[in-house]
Amino acid sequence: MSGKITRGSSELWRIPSPLWKRIDPARLLLGDWWKEVDHPVAWDELLPGGAMHLDVGFGGGEFLLGMARLHPDRRFVGVERFAEGHRNLVKNVLRMGLENVVSAVGDAHVVVGICFADGSLDGVTLNFSDPWPKARHASRRLFTEEFLGLAARKLRPGGRLCLATDDAAYAEQALGDLAKVPLLASTHPEVRWMDVSPYPLRTRYEEKWIREGRPLHYFVYGRR
Ligand SMILES: C[S@@+](CC[C@H](N)C(=O)[O-])C[C@H]1O[C@@H](n2cnc3c(N)ncnc32)[C@H](O)[C@@H]1O
Repeated sequence: MSGKITRGSSELWRIPSPLWKRIDPARLLLGDWWKEVDHPVAWDELLPGGAMHLDVGFGGGEFLLGMARLHPDRRFVGVERFAEGHRNLVKNVLRMGLENVVSAVGDAHVVVGICFADGSLDGVTLNFSDPWPKARHASRRLFTEEFLGLAARKLRPGGRLCLATDDAAYAEQALGDLAKVPLLASTHPEVRWMDVSPYPLRTRYEEKWIREGRPLHYFVYGRR
């Protein structure tokens, strides 16, 4: 596919997922469709399929697309603050004809809070998604007791929360905040974090940090 995606783009009609038929495609293209539907979103009707996985702060969406291709039987939802990442993802979803992935533009605190019922997710990933060192951006941070607690509530018992960071200080902070969420338990109690990814694919930033030789920190916690 080349050029701009417009409401009339024929690519839209190649996607058989009910989401693209039931929701105004213009809203799907903009990424604000989630504001127009009832909450929590009726995922089983709009995006029917298997296990539900949420990727928070997906950036350009490479990880989501890769996982969606690898696991066509699972559903992948992405949340990203920046519309450009969403547009990139949508372009690729349409180009690849993927039926099992959708994304929303917005702050994860809001989108995760209202779009998912408690206990409805099988997995949540936070891949290098906390670039907010400045105090004035503190409310956007995701590696906090508040956000990790919210994500944990949205997981079903046995569901997994996976978090990755290149920043040693954030890793320490995440460790402390994860410990404050009673719903979560580490799946690797023998080590504080792991230095290799639990996933078969790398994200764009992960590639970059590995090229630069940065040590990486991975956490996998299970919902009790
Ligand atoms: C360093 S990038 C990592 C992107 C991708 N996960 C990867 O590993 O390549 C961090 C991304 O998280 C997103 N992000 C950070 N805080 C967010 C929030 N509160 N809500 C939604 N997205 C957020 C940013 O917009 C950015 O695209």
